[in-house]
Amino acid sequence: MDMLVIRGGNPLHGTIRVSGAKNSALPCMAAAILTEDAVTLENIPQVRDIETERKLLASMGAEVELCKGEEDLTTISCRTLSDPVAKYEIVKTMRASALVLGPLVARTGMARVAMPGGCAIGGRPIDLHIKGLETMGATITQEHGYLEARADRLRGTHLVFDKITVTGTEDLLMAAVLAEGETLMENCAREPEVSDLAALLTAMGAQIEGAGTSTIRVQGVTSLHGARHRINPDRIEAGTFLIAGAITGGDLVVADCNPNHLGAVIAKLRETGVCIDVIGPDAVRVRGGEKLRAADISTEEYPGFPTDMQAQYMALATKAEGVSLVRENIFENRFMHVQELVRMGADIKVDGSAATVRGPACLSAAAVMCSDLRASASLVLAALVADGESILDRVYHLDRGYERIEEKLRGVGAQIQRLGNLFAPAESE
Ligand code: UD1
Repeated sequence: MDMLVIRGGNPLHGTIRVSGAKNSALPCMAAAILTEDAVTLENIPQVRDIETERKLLASMGAEVELCKGEEDLTTISCRTLSDPVAKYEIVKTMRASALVLGPLVARTGMARVAMPGGCAIGGRPIDLHIKGLETMGATITQEHGYLEARADRLRGTHLVFDKITVTGTEDLLMAAVLAEGETLMENCAREPEVSDLAALLTAMGAQIEGAGTSTIRVQGVTSLHGARHRINPDRIEAGTFLIAGAITGGDLVVADCNPNHLGAVIAKLRETGVCIDVIGPDAVRVRGGEKLRAADISTEEYPGFPTDMQAQYMALATKAEGVSLVRENIFENRFMHVQELVRMGADIKVDGSAATVRGPACLSAAAVMCSDLRASASLVLAALVADGESILDRVYHLDRGYERIEEKLRGVGAQIQRLGNLFAPAESE
């Protein structure tokens, strides 16, 4: 199993580039199910979850061509879907596999999708996906750990999400575009990944209004055609790099990002005393070095502070003067990084959904264990400033969502090496 060896202490300098967003790429790949034509996607990140989705689509009969290199194009053709089943072996490693449920029923009239189990950061139910599809006329049964959904043609309807869900909004949006008549969706997720998916669906011939707001209106069409689409930059990878620049007291340009998607993260970093300048439409400069001040965060749906940045922010908070309160409102068990940060010398107490971080701590290098994707990123950040050489085990979690992270960080001055074999089996976000 792979490990990362990181020697702390180097301020990061130079330019670091952000890849395409994994959380946009996953629903966009699933959207290819909705048409017989080929869908071509640019800027797909080469991360483990994408490989999992490729396997998932291929297992259903799709042809997926991942073209690396200069062109960076991925072409997916779902002309024939011989086996509309998302098997447990794949779903258990990536819960976002539930994203194929809506498009499969909409296109083929039938889907069998393994129920995702629990995961490291909480229960991750898909009841809202199911409820939405039932409201659209699908019959859903559950047997042997699988959901089976059937519908001759889904009907447009009025959906109000009981709770804001990102992949739930995406799944039902994909179902609605081929449904008969109008679907009005309320209390939708407003994440940029939903807008990215809607842009692709629109390019495929879907009629969608309001994506990116909490009310989305869809006029169903009878068929969709192929399209070419460029995936948004990954705002979580960008935010992670901003914290890497800040925590190491460096001077870093985070390039190929979309600063408009980073509002809450940039505002919070400025509150802690980090100097951040948006220096272009796709670049942000971060300068650390000033004394960091404690600041509280409370995770929220977009445009609030993202839960996917909570663990990385906590690493920064350990170096800030004073007490920072970190409140996690989206997932019930997302503090797995805390114990490892404490082993590195941080002073953090968890009480239910809140953690109190007292700083500044003098972090010392240690052997630590990665437990989920963003927890791993938090440990990388802590190791970049820890005194000595840290060893991060189970980095397959990190590989699920960060493309060539050690190469990128080494390029801006970090001392980081990978030991072992890439791509051992893993769980997912
Ligand atoms: C997506 C992101 C993940 C991010 C999360 C929250 C992808 C592939 N993953 O996950 O990185 O951390 O959004 O921003 O895009 N819920 C229900 N019933 C449902 C669905 C969700 O109760 O049917 C609950 C969840 O348990 C959670 C909350 O709603 O407490 C939000 O979850 P959701 O937005 O659905 O997260 P994901 O879409 O799985």
